[in-house]
Amino acid sequence: MTKIYYFSGTGNTYWSAKKLAERIGDAVIVPISREIKQPDVRIEADAAVFMFPAYAYGIPVMVGRFLERAEIHAGYLAALVSYGSSPGGALAEASRILGRKKMTLNYGGRIPAVENYIPIFGAQEAELRSRRIAMQAEATEQAAAAIVSRVNNRVPTFKPFAGFVSALFHIGCPRMGRLFRVTADCNACGFCARICPAGAISMTKEGPVFQKRCEQCQACLNFCPQKAITFGRLKQDTERYHHPEVAAGELFGTQ
Ligand SMILES: Cc1cc2nc3c(=O)[nH]c(=O)nc-3n(C[C@H](O)[C@H](O)[C@H](O)COP(=O)(O)O)c2cc1C
Ligand code: SF4
Ligand code: SF4
Repeated sequence: MTKIYYFSGTGNTYWSAKKLAERIGDAVIVPISREIKQPDVRIEADAAVFMFPAYAYGIPVMVGRFLERAEIHAGYLAALVSYGSSPGGALAEASRILGRKKMTLNYGGRIPAVENYIPIFGAQEAELRSRRIAMQAEATEQAAAAIVSRVNNRVPTFKPFAGFVSALFHIGCPRMGRLFRVTADCNACGFCARICPAGAISMTKEGPVFQKRCEQCQACLNFCPQKAITFGRLKQDTERYHHPEVAAGELFGTQ
């Protein structure tokens, strides 16, 4: 069996994980956000695939902790990074963590997707989004074919600049929850708390409260049905994004 472990905020990685599992056949997909809560993270599989978005040229904080903690028994290891413009050293970072455990990634693949960091980069134009969604489907198919054929490629481990940027992000990320604002349009539906993979939002009578565990995945502000969550300079009328074939409900309760 192939076990596919994924982390996803706005559904791009989740969509590719589902397609990969369909294409491989004997495969299950497991949210890292849930698995990391187990007292022992033990992976036994013919092949293990780790899928995550690029964050600041590196990997999400939770994915790093997961790879560090996991006891892995698998004959073939692959990592696939979903990214908006440049994945930087994300694969290298995953590869370094596994290397410290004397494990080698057999295959590393890059999956272009729509950029979801809208507070920083704004919303991508509709035409660019469609193009990148098509690129994502093609790259997912190629990665699946490579994994089925047990392709080995060379995954770099040395990306010092990207490693530095990612390290800074990892330091700042948990504290960025305080930059969220909730507008009066919030109807206290609780979607944001249910979709947060980090369990970083608690619902109170006044609405959602953001805690320090935030991973910056952007799920809450992109999936809020009221567009009531803003972050930093993000405007309430800026178009939100999530993968068009992923409904919020599919990502609920993965923490
Ligand atoms: C905090 C943050 C940092 C990001 N950094 C990068 C990056 O360094 N390079 C890049 O190409 N995309 C970056 N992105 C974009 C995401 O990697 C990309 O949109 C990804 O497909 C999102 O996957 P998801 O929908 O599964 O969460 C970043 C997104 C976020 C939220
Ligand atoms: S998803 Fe939006 S409307 Fe619903 S509780 Fe969260 S902020 Fe409020
Ligand atoms: S608070 Fe929002 S951005 Fe932070 S981890 Fe939760 S859903 Fe993602």
